[in-house]
Amino acid sequence: MQVLPGFREFYPEDCARRNYITSTWRQVARRFGFVETDGPCLEPIELYLKKSGGELAGQLFDFTDKGGRHVALRPEMTPTLARMIAARERDFRKPVKWFSIANFFRYEKQQRGRLREFLQFNADIFGDASPAADAELLALVAGILREFGLGPDDFVLRLSDRNAWLHLLQEKTGSVEGAQAFLAIIDKLEREPAETVEAKLAPFALSLAEVRAFIARGREAAPALAALCAELDARGLRGFYEVDLTIVRGLAYYTGVVFEAFDRERRFRALAGGGRYDGLVKLLSDGKSDLPAAGAGLGDVTLGELLSALPHTAGRLAAAVRDGAALDTYVVIADEARRPEALALAAALRDAGHRVDYPLGPAKVGRQFQNAEASGAKRAVVVGAEWPEIKIKDLATRTEQSADRETLLAALGPARPDKP
Ligand code: HAM
Repeated sequence: MQVLPGFREFYPEDCARRNYITSTWRQVARRFGFVETDGPCLEPIELYLKKSGGELAGQLFDFTDKGGRHVALRPEMTPTLARMIAARERDFRKPVKWFSIANFFRYEKQQRGRLREFLQFNADIFGDASPAADAELLALVAGILREFGLGPDDFVLRLSDRNAWLHLLQEKTGSVEGAQAFLAIIDKLEREPAETVEAKLAPFALSLAEVRAFIARGREAAPALAALCAELDARGLRGFYEVDLTIVRGLAYYTGVVFEAFDRERRFRALAGGGRYDGLVKLLSDGKSDLPAAGAGLGDVTLGELLSALPHTAGRLAAAVRDGAALDTYVVIADEARRPEALALAAALRDAGHRVDYPLGPAKVGRQFQNAEASGAKRAVVVGAEWPEIKIKDLATRTEQSADRETLLAALGPARPDKP
């Protein structure tokens, strides 16, 4: 039986890749003062129908459970977070800075960079409506991408402001009625034939040429972005962003600044996306809580594709994968009569935090050395007839020395700290 389309199995090298990605996300998020949270992966479907809206409503994995509840696998974290913060708002000092790393499910069309189950890093700030919060999120996204070895020639943050489009709409039609439908047209501008776009724009008293001219005005058409750009410049990110008004985002809850991260050459789909959603907490708590909010989501799929495609990041990725699987020490049992001593030594090394393996049953010494090499171990420790003398062979330099058990344990010392 085959794996379902859009789902993945994780063999050891895939898990090592995933661990490299998630541990980097976690490390950098902590450096920025974010704390980790999580939510359930199954939710009442109304949570998503209420406001995720747009394209996500048609992509839900939903079903009726045995209790007759209409439920959906989570397609994103934001509504869950908004509910969580609304429920215990008073327990947390503002601004609340939360991150999470979780799997999400969307019934997407088969296409490169999009799966039906994927991992996403989320970072969100509640209780601060200033551009400083938006800048902090963008700096975190850039910080994460840089930690993987990506630079300003490799990726770009594209900034936009939905309000700029709403002002245009107001100016042209005298109201912002139908704003969601209007933003959906802008969202698909480059993906649909010009005649289709023209026809869809007609009720809004706008032509495609006018829309293009508006986009070309960039920063000038979105004055609210000036403060955000200044915040980003102050954080040393001048070369990492551009104003691009074609970004409006497909989700319904965004209220102002929105952004996406892309690879510079636009070979791949978006790496990350986010923005401000000042009305969602209020909506999901039926008005009980009302906090401004902004956040970003960054997936593992496009990121993994980009890291593998660029030589300078592929090397780091490969090294991390190798390191994820490698042992520190392989205990070679050269004399089965000494197996109990060898097991005790392996246990002592493991207690000290070393990654250790040994043959589970009798095996030729040559075969054991082959296994030691294949395991990526730095050294083989040979327990044999010479016990209590132990031979230590450095598998990289091929040098060998002898020691007793206590000297060996003292020399190897406590292990490398396990990365978070
Ligand atoms: P999103 O743009 O739908 O935003 O997703 C953010 C990122 O998740 C995308 O840029 C992409 O890297 C990844 N992603 C999304 N769908 C898929 C898929 N089917 N397969 C692989 N990767 C995918 C959100 O989800 C918002 N909730 C982000 C957010 C957080 N806004 C505020 N806070």
